[in-house]
Amino acid sequence: MAVGKLGTMDSDLEKAFPRCATLKYDTHFQSSKPLGRCESTAKWKFVGSAMYYKIMASLAGFILLLWQYGPPLRARPFFQPRQVSGIANYILEYGMNLSYGLVRRTRAILPLRHFRASRKHTSGCQPHGRTKSPSPLTLDNLHELNIFNNGSGVYLTSDIDVTEEPNWLDGIVPDSVGKTVGAISAAIIVNDHGEGLVDAFYMYFYAYNMGNTVLFQELGDHIGDWEHNMVRFQDGKPTDIWYSQHGNGEAYNFDAVEKMGKRPVSYSARGSHANYATKGTHDHTIPDLNLPIGPLQDYCSQGMLWDPTLSSYFYKYNGTNNSFSDADGNSPVGAMLFRGKWGDQQYPMSDKRQKGFFGFKKFVSGPTGPWDKQLNRTKVCPDNGILCIVRGSVAP
Ligand SMILES: *[C@@H]1O[C@H](CO)[C@@H](O)[C@H](O)[C@H]1NC(C)=O
Ligand SMILES: *[C@@H]1O[C@H](CO)[C@@H](O)[C@H](O)[C@H]1NC(C)=O
Ligand SMILES: *[C@@H]1O[C@H](CO)[C@@H](O)[C@H](O)[C@H]1NC(C)=O
Ligand SMILES: *[C@@H]1O[C@H](CO)[C@@H](O)[C@H](O)[C@H]1NC(C)=O
Ligand SMILES: *[C@@H]1O[C@H](CO)[C@@H](O)[C@H](O)[C@H]1NC(C)=O
Repeated sequence: MAVGKLGTMDSDLEKAFPRCATLKYDTHFQSSKPLGRCESTAKWKFVGSAMYYKIMASLAGFILLLWQYGPPLRARPFFQPRQVSGIANYILEYGMNLSYGLVRRTRAILPLRHFRASRKHTSGCQPHGRTKSPSPLTLDNLHELNIFNNGSGVYLTSDIDVTEEPNWLDGIVPDSVGKTVGAISAAIIVNDHGEGLVDAFYMYFYAYNMGNTVLFQELGDHIGDWEHNMVRFQDGKPTDIWYSQHGNGEAYNFDAVEKMGKRPVSYSARGSHANYATKGTHDHTIPDLNLPIGPLQDYCSQGMLWDPTLSSYFYKYNGTNNSFSDADGNSPVGAMLFRGKWGDQQYPMSDKRQKGFFGFKKFVSGPTGPWDKQLNRTKVCPDNGILCIVRGSVAP
């Protein structure tokens, strides 16, 4: 069923411990090829690290120059009224437009390829190397991995060492109309609370999160990244908007933020993909306060444009019974129900790729999926105990 569907995964299901079978799937799900028993996962390769860093450093310098002084790379604007069956028109009419910086990895959008699931918990192993893992693993059945300890300890793990610069790191660059051709890169989730109150979550999936650089140390990198905007509607009219940033974010009156036509703009920060209402430098050391300078800076520029509504799955979320449903008849619900992580597990210090800095790590674990983003929130901010300030203007 999933064959040929956009955005399905090249998934391999790997069991991380001896006594568990390892399954590998080919890229188009037509066949699956058991690889026999797996060995311990601590078999990472690291190729020419010094050279790698030198090349990357000069590349980074070059790109930075280009980014600062180069011509603005901007997608040709377009106007494409769109209709999706099962989704109210206003959800797309007022959908998000995203703007990217130019630095590599920022624009990385993953078509959910080149990932396998690996289970790092022995507790999930069945005796005699047999599991109940679905085969082949697709976005439709991803949630079946929840049988392993309710999904905790399940990591979708890259089948190529990330430090070897696999192609998927670049993701799919949006084309001239802002579409990620050949890849579904977003999930639009609608929660109809009743009485005309509707929240539309525009969830963006990226291949890689490059963490902030603190005192020349890059910290908090992870494979897989889910970020979002949420637009709250009352009777089909947008009233408020939420920009996710590093575990929390910022809320504004819908009228306050920059638009392209009717659509609000989000500036996706270089590397971290935190969403901001304005371009420029944002320090996020103090939650809910954006300062133009500080130790933890995000950088946003008027980069290329990505229109997530053009390459998205569509879901309805029902808070009454905490369920997802396929809104357009073409969206795999299993991906929304999956409770594991959408990226590699944090590498241990014994792993050559890992680096520590005052208790912080260069690589951390991949994120949980959209289900974990407070889809049933009462305010425009997540219900996380942090004061919800809905700003009337975009000044910090
Ligand atoms: C963003 O949305 C507006 C329509 O409201 C459109 O004019 C603009 O070109 C869009 N840009 C992209 C690439 O999303
Ligand atoms: C699985 O985890 C979710 C989220 O933490 C929780 O709501 C649910 O009750 C758990 N289910 C089981 C069977 O433990
Ligand atoms: C959500 O599910 C409940 C229980 O099944 C149902 O009564 C309600 O109508 C649903 N809400 C929407 C918006 O579909
Ligand atoms: C979602 O919110 C509604 C209204 O606040 C509440 O009745 C319902 O129990 C919530 N659902 C979940 C799964 O928490
Ligand atoms: C929740 O309610 C909807 C109807 O709104 C129904 O289709 C769905 O099966 C229910 N899901 C669960 C998990 O009970």
